[in-house]
Amino acid sequence: MRKYLIAGNWKMYTTPPEATTLASAIAEKQQFLSPPSSVQTLICPPYTSIYAAVEAVKGSGVRVGAQDCHTENKGAFTGEIAPAMVKASGCSHVIVGHSERRQYFSETNALLNKKILAALNEGLVPIYCVGETLIERKQEQTIAVVRSQLVDGLKDVSLKSADQLVIAYEPVWAIGTGLAATSDQAQEVHAAIRGFLKEILGAHGAETLILYGGSLKPENAEEILAKPDVGGGLIGGASLQEDSFAAIIAMACKLAL
Ligand code: 13P
Repeated sequence: MRKYLIAGNWKMYTTPPEATTLASAIAEKQQFLSPPSSVQTLICPPYTSIYAAVEAVKGSGVRVGAQDCHTENKGAFTGEIAPAMVKASGCSHVIVGHSERRQYFSETNALLNKKILAALNEGLVPIYCVGETLIERKQEQTIAVVRSQLVDGLKDVSLKSADQLVIAYEPVWAIGTGLAATSDQAQEVHAAIRGFLKEILGAHGAETLILYGGSLKPENAEEILAKPDVGGGLIGGASLQEDSFAAIIAMACKLAL
């Protein structure tokens, strides 16, 4: 059976009451779909809506994650949220190194490496995002960029099992643009990532899930999720609407069988 993780990145959307409404609707869809254990569902609300989301999805099998975390577990870091706090709030996963963090908050591979190690230390599953900009793709730098993001970001990471870490390939030019990578473009980079993960992580690198992100929607999800090295999706816009998110979960359920 193929494994999939279908993850929604809610970005800076939803107040706590809105999160309760959306998470409850997703939990209801999930219960209706009743995915096999090889298909996991995750929602990542903003920090202030995590509690509301955790309460709303209780007992449904939907998991909750955070969109970022700090490198330290406590201290005088005004405005930051520690991995231990994320974990204690009921999260199983944390997104690390989303391109919006890299672009607008100047997060570097070296900083993200510290965040990944800190998250792993708390038993959180980091979803480490990599991906090239449009200029880098045009200059045929895609594979080199992704390689250095992986080599530097995963420095000193050693896994006890493949499911302790998730990678998300998110081409920056495809995020929020409606212009997704084709399934062949996605597979080409996912296959390269698979090779790098084996080099960096050894045997577990052969099984670590690699999600595709960037304008994933019901219309293109089946073709992309069917590709051999695609292990799920990290979904922005289409995860903010329970019908489109559930349609993607349903496709993963079909492909998992
Ligand atoms: P969109 O699905 O809105 O393109 O966003 C993708 C993304 O950034 C998920 O992390």
